[in-house]
Amino acid sequence: MSKLLNLLIRGATVVNADREFRADVLCAGGKIVEIGENLEAPTNTRELDASGAYLLPGGIDPHTHMQLPFMGTVAVDGFYEGTAAGLAGGTTSIIDFVIPAPQEPLLEAYHKWCGWAQESAGNYSFHVAVTWWDETVHRDMGILVKEHGINSFKHFMAYKNAIMADDEILVNSFRRALELGAMPTVHAENGELVYQLQQELLAKGITGPAGHPLSRPPAVEGEAANRAIAIAQVIGVPIYIVHVSCIDALNAIIRARTAGQRVYGEALAGHLVTDDRGYQDPDFARAAAYVMSPPFREKKHQDALWQGLQSGHLHTTATDHCVFCAGQKAAGKDDFSKIPNGCGGVEERMAVVWDAGVNSGKLTRSEFVRITSANCAQIFNIYPRKGAVAVGSDADLVIWDPHKSKTLSAKTQFSKGDFNVFEGRTVRGFPATVLCNGKVVFEDGQLMAERGAGRYIERAPFTPLAAPLWQAAAEAL
Ligand code: URP
Ligand code: ZN
Ligand code: ZN
Ligand code: ZN
Repeated sequence: MSKLLNLLIRGATVVNADREFRADVLCAGGKIVEIGENLEAPTNTRELDASGAYLLPGGIDPHTHMQLPFMGTVAVDGFYEGTAAGLAGGTTSIIDFVIPAPQEPLLEAYHKWCGWAQESAGNYSFHVAVTWWDETVHRDMGILVKEHGINSFKHFMAYKNAIMADDEILVNSFRRALELGAMPTVHAENGELVYQLQQELLAKGITGPAGHPLSRPPAVEGEAANRAIAIAQVIGVPIYIVHVSCIDALNAIIRARTAGQRVYGEALAGHLVTDDRGYQDPDFARAAAYVMSPPFREKKHQDALWQGLQSGHLHTTATDHCVFCAGQKAAGKDDFSKIPNGCGGVEERMAVVWDAGVNSGKLTRSEFVRITSANCAQIFNIYPRKGAVAVGSDADLVIWDPHKSKTLSAKTQFSKGDFNVFEGRTVRGFPATVLCNGKVVFEDGQLMAERGAGRYIERAPFTPLAAPLWQAAAEAL
């Protein structure tokens, strides 16, 4: 398809975070240039009939790990495969993670990840992890914010003896984030407790994947969420908790939010619909395929996560897409703590959340847009360039067919993974056509992803939502 071709989407019901309306949408030069009724098609324009369908902002997955070197191996979906899989499911942008090894300079790690991400078919941005601390980290955080379009820093409170951030790192980094107008984010699990529980379980002879959730009970996540929120409160900086999986962590968020603290929460599509029974599978490979952290939980936690999304205490949906195949997971055949942690989902998130959220009546279509793109774009300060169907926004769009059914399976997924945590689930509602930067990249089941066509999304500091709090706190320092 010619790069110069305009696209005119006719007759769709546009769904934004605030409202729905019928309109034609004209895209040119990678942007939305006109929205209105009965638009005239300029020359060199392809028309797409979207009557009976919804037109949504392209999904943004705020939590993926493409090509992640982790636990002695590397995630199999690289930036091309992972973003292409995302496009096939209506996700046109991801925010991945630069994760420096302890003592590795942040800027070096950032440039390494930028090199890998050149392959991306979809748009991408980065959170940068703070895994160690000294004055050079303090300095490099500033350079990343001021010169490289980074406005969020990640802290793993788990993974002791690897990338875990202790309280000293958290406090120093949160302070620096406040100075810079950047968002601290945390993986909330008490890494010391996880480590000691793992050792106890292994000593008792519990070596299989069933030990994984036992070593990471909900209280371990709740403790870390409460601690991170308390540190953020003392410092006066907003905080974003990634992959909230349980009532304990959700309650920490609700308590802080109802007390007026600016806390954001993310739920994973997997945690919303998949329970913990997979860990009991007698087949090692199948049970190990579910090993991710925090683990899948029993049903009452899923119900709570949905309520969190409905009540507005949770704001985004993500996937933590981090794919390891059976051969890689086999590293933990005799010791569950060595199974590389991670599952897929970037391709399925939009359909799973629509089917389980909108079709069930839990969410309105506008709420769906909020939790799949708009809120993420606002929290990480790329709204309305992303997350809205509006004149001037990037033409990252999904023509969403609410009647299209699909049975999700590893056999038909675009991801290179050999497992699908949603295997056998039939969803109703799926992308008919996906546009990324104004180009059709998925249509009628055909993926037309182009290696390297994705664009890096620079994110300026200070989100509009958080700015007043940040400024007041910074002035008080
Ligand atoms: O198990 C997971 N989630 N793997 C990826 C790294 C992380 O903790 O997000
Ligand atoms: Zn400072
Ligand atoms: Zn994590
Ligand atoms: Zn993750």
